[in-house]
Amino acid sequence: MKRLVIVGTQWGDEGKGKITDYLAQKADVVVRYQGGNNAGHTVKFAGQEYHLHLLPSGILNPKITNVMANGMVINPQAFAEEISRLKAFNLYISDRAHLVFPYHQTLDKAGEKQKQDQQIGTTHKGIGPTYTDKSARIGMRVSTFIHPDRFYHELEKIVKSKNEEFARYELPPVSFEALYETYLPYSKLMKPYVTDTSKLINQLIDENKKVLFEGAQGVMLCLDHGTYPYVTSSSPTAASVPVNTGIAPWLVEGSIGVTKAYSTRVGSGPMPTEIDGNLAQEIRVKGREFGTTTGRPRRIGWLDTVVIRHSKRVSGLSYLAVTLLDILSGLDEIKICTSYTLNGKEIFDIPAEIEDFAQCTPNYVTLQGWQEDITNVQSFAELPEAAQKYLQAIEKYTGIEIAIFSVGPDRTQTITVKDIF
Ligand code: IMP
Repeated sequence: MKRLVIVGTQWGDEGKGKITDYLAQKADVVVRYQGGNNAGHTVKFAGQEYHLHLLPSGILNPKITNVMANGMVINPQAFAEEISRLKAFNLYISDRAHLVFPYHQTLDKAGEKQKQDQQIGTTHKGIGPTYTDKSARIGMRVSTFIHPDRFYHELEKIVKSKNEEFARYELPPVSFEALYETYLPYSKLMKPYVTDTSKLINQLIDENKKVLFEGAQGVMLCLDHGTYPYVTSSSPTAASVPVNTGIAPWLVEGSIGVTKAYSTRVGSGPMPTEIDGNLAQEIRVKGREFGTTTGRPRRIGWLDTVVIRHSKRVSGLSYLAVTLLDILSGLDEIKICTSYTLNGKEIFDIPAEIEDFAQCTPNYVTLQGWQEDITNVQSFAELPEAAQKYLQAIEKYTGIEIAIFSVGPDRTQTITVKDIF
């Protein structure tokens, strides 16, 4: 495949950054297609760890063209901060992407506070309010931002209406002048990177370049197909790539679903296979399961193949990349959820109604664990038999072939089972 999408199959944090960085060794182009700095992608290479929130995970490779596509929402301040820490080579930003301003973050927090015990548990990065403005046709695009005059007039108009919204939350008004003065330097910083990225990507495809499309979050956080309302405000599915990048649907050749060897979730909302107590804490600490963006401890659960089959159906997943397999070493037994029970009936799909999903209890198959340290394994054959059987069980219950698995955070701890890109 020459044009591959990297999709999170669970609730985000599956290790997409690491898999993108690994596959990017063979790519010419990496395109980030949705979300904003709510995402946190960790890439570890040559003993150094990089935390990326906005920049595509190909950014560490000077040979790669990196694109921030129109489906993204970009916080200019966060962009400036991130780019100052890295040497950004060949970076392009879509003129049609939308921008996140501080009032979006304030409204994100205020909206959550108002929900009291019904909070989504957002990252407070202003992502929801920015996509809301985009849909309401009152957002600001990068193309406006980089023209000082247009930026001035548009911002003035927006701040006026935002201050009315702020008043409803009893928040102090935003000063338009101060905001403009603070953000003007960011618009100048961003301008050299801005282009029509749809044209650019299509041109690169015409030149037969190898393209990776990098998703943020995971399918269960998809606005349409996730556990609504406990979702983000964009679609991390492979199906969203054409609209979020400006290419024809048939140009996407396939996708690799990145799946943790277990489940995690940050934020609220049901998670049927969630586990508590010592075991969860052991996995949390060993797997360093604390949010890259917010530092929040992640909720831990067994692998849920109902979730992965759902992701396969709504997104399309050609292959799987199973990450963090090493974290399960040392357990006596490991469970895989294969179906749920709801109101006394076995079900194999995710119900639309969140109350129903919250009542689903998992049905498991139990497999034998392994005790060996697998962090130096370089092939499937080198894995202990129980770990091989675990991967085979994942293939069996998801109906998806595994192309990659990983046994540690470094690029060198990633093993190709099948060459797909
Ligand atoms: P928002 O995207 O900040 O609006 O948050 C909505 C939900 O998505 C919350 O449950 C967040 O914790 C979750 N979320 C957003 N981005 C990520 C991510 O990159 N990884 C995991 N969860 C995320």
